[in-house]
Amino acid sequence: MKPILDKLHTDHKNFLKLLNFLENQLQILKDCGHSDFELTLDAIRYMKEYPDLIHHPLENVVFKYFIEHHEEVYDELTELIHEHEEMPALTETLLEMLQNTLSGVPQERERLCSYLREYINKQVEHMNLEEAYVYPVIDSTLTDKEWSEIKSELENVDDPLFGKNIKKSYQALLQKVID
Ligand SMILES: [Fe+2]
Ligand SMILES: [Fe+2]
Repeated sequence: MKPILDKLHTDHKNFLKLLNFLENQLQILKDCGHSDFELTLDAIRYMKEYPDLIHHPLENVVFKYFIEHHEEVYDELTELIHEHEEMPALTETLLEMLQNTLSGVPQERERLCSYLREYINKQVEHMNLEEAYVYPVIDSTLTDKEWSEIKSELENVDDPLFGKNIKKSYQALLQKVID
């Protein structure tokens, strides 16, 4: 697998760990237990800061290049790019709901649970489409020359949670996620 695709694939594995943490928090919330709101907030902030702002735009560069130069998986790529556009607003809504729940707005917990359920499912389905249908085709189609053309369009940005330099505010979350 080429380095850029390899990096995106590693991101997915990390995101699954984070979504797994959110899944556990969801179960606690549903059982009306004491979920860790602060770490859940950190997890959602991370979704906004890295997957929404860095990972998806990076995929867009690869996907758009592929659409311009090849015919395969056109429908899937178009759908994925469209989902990338919608995701930041979904994350923002989740962040607001969580903050409302924290400030004790009545009935907010139930809404938060169903929204979080939907959010996790969407993220997982999105990654599954990429991993199962799109990445393998991109991997087997693009040449080294094409990858170097793509690379020249990219900026190098580190992951603040799973990268080399972990942001201070994410250190507690990282401990939980890799537990
Ligand atoms: Fe994506
Ligand atoms: Fe992705």
